[in-house]
Amino acid sequence: MASRSSLTRFRPPLTLVLIALAASVLLVACDDEDDPNSSPTATQGMTSTPTAATTSTPSGGGAGASAYQDAYDGALEMALEEDLGSEVDDAYLATVNIDVRPDGEGLPDGSGIAETGAQVYVAQCATCHGDHGEGNGPGGNGPQLIVEPEVAQDGWQPGEPKVIGNYWPYATTVYDFINRAMPFLTPGTLSPDEVYAVSAFLLAENGVIEASEEMNAETLVQVEMPNRDAFFSCWAEACRPDVESGGGGASAEAGD
Ligand code: HEC
Repeated sequence: MASRSSLTRFRPPLTLVLIALAASVLLVACDDEDDPNSSPTATQGMTSTPTAATTSTPSGGGAGASAYQDAYDGALEMALEEDLGSEVDDAYLATVNIDVRPDGEGLPDGSGIAETGAQVYVAQCATCHGDHGEGNGPGGNGPQLIVEPEVAQDGWQPGEPKVIGNYWPYATTVYDFINRAMPFLTPGTLSPDEVYAVSAFLLAENGVIEASEEMNAETLVQVEMPNRDAFFSCWAEACRPDVESGGGGASAEAGD
């Protein structure tokens, strides 16, 4: 009886030893792959991409920037080893890099006024967004796009629908969204002139600009949206006086 019970007690440790052995073999294998000295050959021939990433890294990044670069280089190396994907050329990049920012960066050449935009709207948008931008047209459940100028002028108020005129903080986003996503079933088919024109039409109908104002890369940025000041960043000290800026957040205070 005694020897039998000591045998059963002995089995688990043997299994553990085997598991430990297997784990240490795996660890050694991983260590080899993590060797930071194995990078140069893989990144050769891709010098243009890492350089581009370096120049677009915000200045003053310090250790953060180099950690980003290391992560980028590591991911690139792994992808090349696995033969994943292919290098992106500038021509392709231009077709997908279409974002337009609040400061107007990304806006193309071109221009348009509300009168022309009304024609674009009737032909390509009204079926879903309604003849007067009221939403839910017969062709699809497009949301409301227009409110009365009196509703738009003091920004969004509780109970109101949220539309371009009374809610959106930047006019440039009107361009960006229509350009990337509308018409819903055929996005990307409008020319820059058409997008400027239909943006002008929607802004004018909301009473945000005059119907005669031409929208282009300069004027669109200058449009002051009524609800602009309802959007703000809370990183600033003004928003959170209890948090010291630049110190990486309030982790020391967490839980207070
Ligand atoms: C086939 C129907 C359809 C057509 C045509 C269409 N839209 Fe839309 N639109 C939609 C739908 C659906 C949404 C909501 C999409 C979402 O929330 O992702 C939308 C959203 C929008 C928004 C965002 C509204 C908001 O406040 O969130 C704008 C602006 C807009 N469309 C403009 C246009 C313009 C300009 C055209 C014509 C050039 C157009 N749409 C044509 C269906 C359509």
